[in-house]
Amino acid sequence: MATTTKLLLADLVSGVKHVPSNYIRPISDRPNLSDIDISEASISLIDLQGLNGPNHSHVIEQIGLACQTDGFFQVKNHGVPEATINKMLNIAKEFFRLPESERLKSYSDDPTRATRLSTSFNIKTETVSNWRDFLRLHCYPLQDFVHEWPSNPPSFREDVAEYCTSARGLVLRLLEAISESLGLRRDYIYKALGKHGQHMALNYYPPCPQPELTYGLPGHTDVNLITVLLQDDVPGLQVLRNGKWVAINPIPNTFVVNLGDQMQVISNDLFKSVLHRALVNINKERISIPTFYCPSPDAVIGPATELIDDDHPAAYRKFTYADYYRRFWKEGLDTQCLLDKFKVSTP
Ligand code: OGA
Ligand code: NI
Repeated sequence: MATTTKLLLADLVSGVKHVPSNYIRPISDRPNLSDIDISEASISLIDLQGLNGPNHSHVIEQIGLACQTDGFFQVKNHGVPEATINKMLNIAKEFFRLPESERLKSYSDDPTRATRLSTSFNIKTETVSNWRDFLRLHCYPLQDFVHEWPSNPPSFREDVAEYCTSARGLVLRLLEAISESLGLRRDYIYKALGKHGQHMALNYYPPCPQPELTYGLPGHTDVNLITVLLQDDVPGLQVLRNGKWVAINPIPNTFVVNLGDQMQVISNDLFKSVLHRALVNINKERISIPTFYCPSPDAVIGPATELIDDDHPAAYRKFTYADYYRRFWKEGLDTQCLLDKFKVSTP
Protein backbone atom coordinates (compact mmCIF):
# COMPACT_ATOMS: atom_id res chain seq x y z
CA MET A 1 0.00 0.00 0.00
CA ALA A 2 1.34 3.42 -0.85
CA THR A 3 1.84 5.64 2.13
CA THR A 4 2.10 9.38 1.87
CA THR A 5 4.07 11.42 4.32
CA LYS A 6 2.38 14.60 5.38
CA LEU A 7 4.35 17.21 7.26
CA LEU A 8 1.38 19.19 8.52
CA LEU A 9 -1.51 17.94 10.62
CA ALA A 10 -4.18 19.71 8.58
CA ASP A 11 -3.16 17.69 5.50
CA LEU A 12 -2.68 14.44 7.42
CA VAL A 13 -6.10 14.38 9.06
CA SER A 14 -8.48 15.97 6.65
CA GLY A 15 -11.43 13.56 6.65
CA VAL A 16 -10.02 10.97 9.11
CA LYS A 17 -12.48 9.26 11.47
CA HIS A 18 -9.96 8.27 14.16
CA VAL A 19 -7.09 10.02 15.87
CA PRO A 20 -3.79 8.49 14.67
CA SER A 21 -2.10 6.52 17.47
CA ASN A 22 0.80 8.93 18.01
CA TYR A 23 -1.69 11.63 19.03
CA ILE A 24 -3.43 9.50 21.68
CA ARG A 25 -2.55 10.39 25.27
CA PRO A 26 -2.20 7.74 27.98
CA ILE A 27 -5.48 7.39 29.90
CA SER A 28 -4.10 9.21 32.97
CA ASP A 29 -3.25 12.22 30.82
CA ARG A 30 -6.41 12.91 28.83
CA PRO A 31 -8.77 15.87 29.01
CA ASN A 32 -11.05 14.53 31.73
CA LEU A 33 -14.47 16.12 32.10
CA SER A 34 -14.50 15.50 35.84
CA ASP A 35 -11.44 17.76 36.27
CA ILE A 36 -13.27 20.69 34.77
CA ASP A 37 -14.69 23.34 37.02
CA ILE A 38 -17.95 24.80 35.79
CA SER A 39 -19.07 26.17 39.15
CA GLU A 40 -16.47 28.86 39.65
CA ALA A 41 -16.47 32.33 38.22
CA SER A 42 -14.35 32.70 35.12
CA ILE A 43 -11.17 34.70 34.91
CA SER A 44 -11.66 38.42 35.63
CA LEU A 45 -12.34 40.85 32.79
CA ILE A 46 -10.61 44.16 33.42
CA ASP A 47 -11.60 47.42 31.68
CA LEU A 48 -8.38 49.19 30.72
CA GLN A 49 -10.24 52.43 29.96
CA GLY A 50 -9.99 53.09 33.69
CA LEU A 51 -6.17 53.26 33.58
CA ASN A 52 -6.37 56.87 32.37
CA GLY A 53 -8.55 58.54 34.95
CA PRO A 54 -9.82 58.61 38.50
CA ASN A 55 -10.12 54.79 38.58
CA HIS A 56 -6.41 54.30 37.88
CA SER A 57 -5.45 52.86 41.26
CA HIS A 58 -8.49 50.59 41.32
CA VAL A 59 -7.51 49.10 37.94
CA ILE A 60 -3.93 48.62 39.15
CA GLU A 61 -5.30 46.76 42.16
CA GLN A 62 -7.48 44.53 39.99
CA ILE A 63 -4.51 43.68 37.78
CA GLY A 64 -2.29 42.96 40.81
CA LEU A 65 -4.92 40.71 42.35
CA ALA A 66 -5.42 38.74 39.12
CA CYS A 67 -1.64 38.34 38.71
CA GLN A 68 -1.30 37.00 42.26
CA THR A 69 -4.20 34.58 42.16
CA ASP A 70 -4.86 33.30 38.63
CA GLY A 71 -1.85 34.55 36.66
CA PHE A 72 -4.49 35.24 34.00
CA PHE A 73 -6.95 38.03 33.24
CA GLN A 74 -8.96 39.29 30.29
CA VAL A 75 -8.95 42.91 29.06
CA LYS A 76 -11.43 45.11 27.22
CA ASN A 77 -11.05 48.69 25.96
CA HIS A 78 -7.44 47.70 25.33
CA GLY A 79 -6.73 50.11 22.47
CA VAL A 80 -6.22 47.58 19.67
CA PRO A 81 -8.76 48.57 16.98
CA GLU A 82 -11.50 46.09 16.15
CA ALA A 83 -10.64 46.33 12.43
CA THR A 84 -7.01 45.41 13.16
CA ILE A 85 -8.15 42.36 15.16
CA ASN A 86 -10.55 41.23 12.45
CA LYS A 87 -7.94 41.56 9.72
CA MET A 88 -5.52 39.50 11.83
CA LEU A 89 -8.03 36.70 12.41
CA ASN A 90 -9.06 36.68 8.74
CA ILE A 91 -5.53 36.59 7.38
CA ALA A 92 -4.64 33.74 9.74
CA LYS A 93 -7.65 31.78 8.49
CA GLU A 94 -6.69 32.49 4.87
CA PHE A 95 -3.11 31.41 5.49
CA PHE A 96 -4.14 28.00 6.82
CA ARG A 97 -6.51 27.55 3.87
CA LEU A 98 -3.72 27.97 1.32
CA PRO A 99 -2.88 24.86 -0.70
CA GLU A 100 -0.45 22.50 1.02
CA SER A 101 2.38 23.29 -1.40
CA GLU A 102 2.04 26.99 -0.68
CA ARG A 103 2.01 26.55 3.11
CA LEU A 104 5.00 24.20 2.97
CA LYS A 105 7.19 27.03 1.65
CA SER A 106 7.35 28.24 5.29
CA TYR A 107 7.88 24.78 6.82
CA SER A 108 10.78 24.01 9.16
CA ASP A 109 11.25 21.70 12.15
CA ASP A 110 14.20 23.73 13.50
CA PRO A 111 13.06 25.66 16.60
CA THR A 112 15.89 28.18 16.26
CA ARG A 113 14.45 29.58 13.02
CA ALA A 114 12.80 33.00 13.51
CA THR A 115 10.07 32.34 10.95
CA ARG A 116 8.65 28.88 10.52
CA LEU A 117 5.54 26.82 10.01
CA SER A 118 5.52 23.59 11.95
CA THR A 119 3.24 21.15 13.72
CA SER A 120 2.57 19.83 17.23
CA PHE A 121 5.18 21.40 19.56
CA ASN A 122 8.68 20.06 18.92
CA ILE A 123 8.52 16.97 16.73
CA LYS A 124 12.22 16.29 17.27
CA THR A 125 11.88 15.72 21.03
CA GLU A 126 8.29 14.84 21.92
CA THR A 127 6.82 11.37 22.39
CA VAL A 128 3.11 12.16 21.87
CA SER A 129 2.07 14.68 19.22
CA ASN A 130 -0.29 17.60 19.68
CA TRP A 131 -3.29 18.40 17.48
CA ARG A 132 -1.93 21.68 16.14
CA ASP A 133 -0.16 23.35 13.24
CA PHE A 134 1.48 26.70 13.93
CA LEU A 135 3.24 29.52 12.16
CA ARG A 136 5.75 31.27 14.39
CA LEU A 137 7.00 34.76 13.62
CA HIS A 138 9.40 37.15 15.28
CA CYS A 139 7.89 40.64 15.20
CA TYR A 140 10.16 43.07 17.02
CA PRO A 141 12.07 44.96 15.76
CA LEU A 142 9.68 44.58 12.85
CA GLN A 143 12.11 45.63 10.11
CA ASP A 144 14.51 42.82 11.09
CA PHE A 145 11.95 40.09 10.39
CA VAL A 146 9.09 41.21 8.17
CA HIS A 147 10.95 40.31 4.96
CA GLU A 148 11.09 36.65 6.12
CA TRP A 149 7.34 36.39 6.67
CA PRO A 150 5.07 34.65 4.15
CA SER A 151 4.13 36.88 1.23
CA ASN A 152 0.99 34.88 0.51
CA PRO A 153 -1.87 35.76 1.12
CA PRO A 154 -0.81 39.07 -0.50
CA SER A 155 -1.83 41.30 2.43
CA PHE A 156 -0.25 38.97 5.04
CA ARG A 157 2.76 41.15 5.90
CA GLU A 158 0.77 44.37 6.03
CA ASP A 159 -2.08 42.99 8.16
CA VAL A 160 0.15 41.12 10.59
CA ALA A 161 2.54 44.08 10.95
CA GLU A 162 -0.39 46.35 11.80
CA TYR A 163 -1.64 43.86 14.38
CA CYS A 164 1.65 43.18 16.10
CA THR A 165 2.57 46.86 16.30
CA SER A 166 -0.74 47.56 17.98
CA ALA A 167 -0.43 44.52 20.25
CA ARG A 168 3.01 45.75 21.35
CA GLY A 169 1.47 49.06 22.38
CA LEU A 170 -0.97 47.15 24.59
CA VAL A 171 1.82 45.05 26.10
CA LEU A 172 3.85 48.14 26.98
CA ARG A 173 0.86 49.65 28.82
CA LEU A 174 0.34 46.36 30.66
CA LEU A 175 4.02 46.29 31.67
CA GLU A 176 3.68 49.75 33.26
CA ALA A 177 0.53 48.72 35.09
CA ILE A 178 2.07 45.44 36.30
CA SER A 179 5.26 47.21 37.46
CA GLU A 180 3.07 49.63 39.39
CA SER A 181 1.02 46.82 40.92
CA LEU A 182 4.27 45.30 42.24
CA GLY A 183 5.19 48.63 43.83
CA LEU A 184 8.03 49.11 41.34
CA ARG A 185 8.81 52.14 39.16
CA ARG A 186 6.48 52.18 36.16
CA ASP A 187 9.39 51.59 33.77
CA TYR A 188 11.00 48.83 35.87
CA ILE A 189 9.95 45.83 33.78
CA TYR A 190 10.44 47.71 30.50
CA LYS A 191 14.04 48.34 31.49
CA ALA A 192 14.64 44.80 32.74
CA LEU A 193 14.15 43.26 29.28
CA GLY A 194 17.30 44.38 27.48
CA LYS A 195 16.43 45.16 23.88
CA HIS A 196 13.05 43.35 24.13
CA GLY A 197 11.66 40.62 21.92
CA GLN A 198 8.21 39.94 20.52
CA HIS A 199 7.17 36.68 18.91
CA MET A 200 3.81 35.50 17.80
CA ALA A 201 2.20 32.23 16.89
CA LEU A 202 -0.70 31.62 14.57
CA ASN A 203 -2.09 28.42 16.07
CA TYR A 204 -4.35 26.31 13.88
CA TYR A 205 -6.25 23.46 15.55
CA PRO A 206 -8.05 21.35 12.92
CA PRO A 207 -11.36 19.69 13.82
CA CYS A 208 -10.64 16.44 15.68
CA PRO A 209 -12.81 13.31 15.46
CA GLN A 210 -12.00 12.25 19.06
CA PRO A 211 -11.15 15.37 21.09
CA GLU A 212 -11.25 13.39 24.36
CA LEU A 213 -8.04 11.52 23.40
CA THR A 214 -5.64 14.36 22.64
CA TYR A 215 -4.70 18.00 23.17
CA GLY A 216 -4.15 21.00 20.94
CA LEU A 217 -1.57 21.92 23.55
CA PRO A 218 -1.12 19.98 26.81
CA GLY A 219 -0.80 21.78 30.16
CA HIS A 220 2.18 24.15 30.09
CA THR A 221 3.33 27.50 31.37
CA ASP A 222 4.58 30.14 28.95
CA VAL A 223 8.34 30.53 28.93
CA ASN A 224 8.34 34.24 28.08
CA LEU A 225 7.41 37.33 30.15
CA ILE A 226 3.77 37.99 29.26
CA THR A 227 1.38 36.64 26.63
CA VAL A 228 -1.56 38.45 25.04
CA LEU A 229 -3.84 35.93 23.36
CA LEU A 230 -6.35 36.62 20.62
CA GLN A 231 -8.75 33.74 20.04
CA ASP A 232 -11.47 33.26 17.45
CA ASP A 233 -15.02 32.33 18.54
CA VAL A 234 -14.35 28.63 19.24
CA PRO A 235 -13.70 27.63 22.89
CA GLY A 236 -10.68 25.53 23.86
CA LEU A 237 -8.47 27.44 26.30
CA GLN A 238 -8.46 26.26 29.93
CA VAL A 239 -6.52 27.46 32.95
CA LEU A 240 -5.65 25.55 36.12
CA ARG A 241 -7.14 27.09 39.26
CA ASN A 242 -7.18 25.25 42.62
CA GLY A 243 -6.49 21.94 40.90
CA LYS A 244 -9.41 22.26 38.45
CA TRP A 245 -9.45 23.43 34.85
CA VAL A 246 -11.45 26.61 34.20
CA ALA A 247 -12.47 27.47 30.62
CA ILE A 248 -11.79 30.95 29.26
CA ASN A 249 -14.40 31.10 26.55
CA PRO A 250 -13.98 33.72 23.83
CA ILE A 251 -15.51 37.17 24.30
CA PRO A 252 -15.37 39.24 21.08
CA ASN A 253 -12.87 42.11 21.11
CA THR A 254 -11.14 41.10 24.30
CA PHE A 255 -7.72 39.60 24.91
CA VAL A 256 -6.62 36.99 27.39
CA VAL A 257 -3.45 38.07 29.21
CA ASN A 258 -1.25 35.62 31.07
CA LEU A 259 2.04 35.91 32.87
CA GLY A 260 4.95 33.75 31.79
CA ASP A 261 7.87 32.26 33.71
CA GLN A 262 10.03 35.42 33.45
CA MET A 263 7.36 37.49 35.21
CA GLN A 264 7.21 34.98 38.03
CA VAL A 265 10.99 35.34 38.42
CA ILE A 266 11.04 39.17 38.28
CA SER A 267 8.19 39.34 40.83
CA ASN A 268 10.12 36.94 43.09
CA ASP A 269 7.14 34.53 43.13
CA LEU A 270 4.53 37.20 44.02
CA PHE A 271 2.97 36.72 40.60
CA LYS A 272 2.30 33.38 38.99
CA SER A 273 3.02 31.75 35.65
CA VAL A 274 0.09 29.34 35.57
CA LEU A 275 -0.56 26.06 33.74
CA HIS A 276 -2.96 26.30 30.83
CA ARG A 277 -3.90 24.06 27.90
CA ALA A 278 -5.87 24.01 24.65
CA LEU A 279 -8.51 21.39 23.91
CA VAL A 280 -9.70 20.66 20.40
CA ASN A 281 -13.18 20.53 18.95
CA ILE A 282 -15.02 17.75 17.19
CA ASN A 283 -16.46 19.71 14.29
CA LYS A 284 -14.85 23.11 14.32
CA GLU A 285 -11.37 24.31 13.56
CA ARG A 286 -9.98 26.86 16.03
CA ILE A 287 -7.48 29.66 15.59
CA SER A 288 -5.63 31.36 18.42
CA ILE A 289 -2.95 34.00 18.10
CA PRO A 290 -0.68 34.51 21.10
CA THR A 291 1.73 37.46 21.21
CA PHE A 292 4.68 36.38 23.33
CA TYR A 293 6.54 39.34 24.76
CA CYS A 294 10.02 38.50 26.03
CA PRO A 295 13.39 39.78 27.15
CA SER A 296 16.08 39.88 24.46
CA PRO A 297 18.36 36.81 24.61
CA ASP A 298 21.19 38.74 26.32
CA ALA A 299 18.99 40.21 29.07
CA VAL A 300 19.90 39.06 32.59
CA ILE A 301 16.75 38.07 34.44
CA GLY A 302 16.37 37.78 38.20
CA PRO A 303 14.05 38.87 41.01
CA ALA A 304 13.67 42.68 41.33
CA THR A 305 16.02 43.90 44.09
CA GLU A 306 13.18 46.00 45.53
CA LEU A 307 11.20 42.80 46.18
CA ILE A 308 13.96 41.07 48.12
CA ASP A 309 14.39 41.44 51.87
CA ASP A 310 15.06 39.24 54.92
CA ASP A 311 11.51 37.87 54.86
CA HIS A 312 11.53 37.44 51.08
CA PRO A 313 14.93 36.15 49.98
CA ALA A 314 15.61 35.87 46.25
CA ALA A 315 13.82 32.75 45.04
CA TYR A 316 15.77 32.52 41.75
CA ARG A 317 19.34 32.90 40.65
CA LYS A 318 20.17 35.27 37.81
CA PHE A 319 20.31 33.85 34.29
CA THR A 320 20.21 35.07 30.72
CA TYR A 321 16.98 34.65 28.84
CA ALA A 322 18.95 32.79 26.14
CA ASP A 323 19.83 30.09 28.72
CA TYR A 324 16.27 29.67 29.83
CA TYR A 325 14.87 29.61 26.30
CA ARG A 326 17.37 27.06 25.03
CA ARG A 327 16.50 24.74 27.89
CA PHE A 328 12.78 25.14 27.20
CA TRP A 329 13.01 24.02 23.60
CA LYS A 330 15.28 21.14 24.54
CA GLU A 331 13.15 19.76 27.36
CA GLY A 332 9.75 20.44 25.86
CA LEU A 333 6.30 20.98 27.25
CA ASP A 334 6.42 17.93 29.52
CA THR A 335 8.81 19.66 31.91
CA GLN A 336 6.14 21.50 33.79
CA CYS A 337 8.50 23.12 36.25
CA LEU A 338 11.46 24.45 34.34
CA LEU A 339 11.29 27.36 36.82
CA ASP A 340 12.39 25.03 39.62
CA LYS A 341 15.69 24.44 37.84
CA PHE A 342 16.50 28.17 38.17
CA LYS A 343 15.63 28.40 41.86
CA VAL A 344 18.22 29.43 44.41
CA SER A 345 19.19 26.08 45.85
CA THR A 346 18.13 25.83 49.45
CA PRO A 347 20.96 24.84 51.81
C1 OGA B 1 0.22 28.91 23.62
C2 OGA B 1 -1.12 28.72 24.22
C3 OGA B 1 -3.51 28.63 24.03
C4 OGA B 1 -4.56 28.58 22.99
O1 OGA B 1 0.30 28.99 22.38
O2 OGA B 1 1.19 28.99 24.41
O3 OGA B 1 -1.20 28.54 25.41
O4 OGA B 1 -5.71 28.81 23.36
N1 OGA B 1 -2.21 28.75 23.44
O5 OGA B 1 -4.26 28.32 21.84
NI1 NI C 1 0.65 28.99 26.40
